[in-house]
Amino acid sequence: MPTPSLASLPIRRLTLRDLNACADLSEDRGWPREEHKWGLLLTAGKGYGIDDPGGGLVAACVVTEYGPREQPALAAVGMVLVAGRHARRGVGRRLMRHIVSAMGATPLTLHATSCGRPLYEELGFKVIGRAEMLRGRFVPTGDRPEVATRAATAEDLPEVARLDEEVFGADRTPIVTRLPAFADHLRVAEENGRIIGYAAAWPNMETHVVGPLIARDTTTAEALLASLAARTDRPLRTDIDVRHEELLSWAKAHGLASVTSNAVMAYGITELPGDRNRRFAPVTVAAA
Ligand SMILES: CC(C)(COP(=O)(O)OP(=O)(O)OC[C@H]1O[C@@H](n2cnc3c(N)ncnc32)[C@H](O)[C@@H]1OP(=O)(O)O)[C@@H](O)C(=O)NCCC(=O)NCCS
Repeated sequence: MPTPSLASLPIRRLTLRDLNACADLSEDRGWPREEHKWGLLLTAGKGYGIDDPGGGLVAACVVTEYGPREQPALAAVGMVLVAGRHARRGVGRRLMRHIVSAMGATPLTLHATSCGRPLYEELGFKVIGRAEMLRGRFVPTGDRPEVATRAATAEDLPEVARLDEEVFGADRTPIVTRLPAFADHLRVAEENGRIIGYAAAWPNMETHVVGPLIARDTTTAEALLASLAARTDRPLRTDIDVRHEELLSWAKAHGLASVTSNAVMAYGITELPGDRNRRFAPVTVAAA
């Protein structure tokens, strides 16, 4: 039987059953397997992929939609991967064109690696910002945090979801409702009985990723980050919007180091919705 051409292989929706094949694909491109993250994205978002007749996946990506189901306000694209053996043969372009057309009028956003950026630019995505990836063991200074934090309880979830929607600019219920199970720690910052910020730390390979990180101001963001760091022995990773210079300097003074920075890109909008002053870090760069 002749080998079918790459261009004729169908693009299909991925499910949680594809988790292992997705992790294999990550590994194929030298990325960590990140099964826990794939699990979140394949359930909270929609996976798209192409089966390899020889086994495994030729390509994959995930799209997480936010806002009303019938007309999402925003969709985040992530984990765009093409198996190394099929690279540079137009598969990435075909998969991304499929996503752009499947999402119709919904504005799109993504964090682009330098490898993916030329393709997104060709499709009409524009750079609208940058996020700096920080990693390392947090070194506490022993100062008493100026803002009180505590573990979130089930009763906090409606208020957390309301604050998240206000700051993110779209309803992120599919992510927020999964955080208590997905994250190892979910904490809120409070002032006079009102929640003024929240953050999660979730396990990813040997690190704990801090995100989302939403806070009224830098001091609140620092208190949340420090309180999460105090509850893990693992190195932290977080991706902070470069406009939050104060938080970046503070984190670097506490042991985190810059690994790289990714371009934040958008299609169909020139700025993300919501309040960027209170939005410090995404849940993951793959889901915004
Ligand atoms: C980025 C990626 C998905 C592209 O998939 P692909 O199927 O190899 O790309 P295509 O063949 O469709 O190429 C489309 C265009 O992207 C650009 N491009 C793709 N790979 C590139 C590379 N290694 N360096 C520079 N430009 C590249 C080129 O402009 C290319 O067009 P051309 O071949 O006509 O010059 C793939 O390289 C990959 O999986 N990379 C590792 C994971 C990653 O970084 N993903 C992006 C996350 S944001």
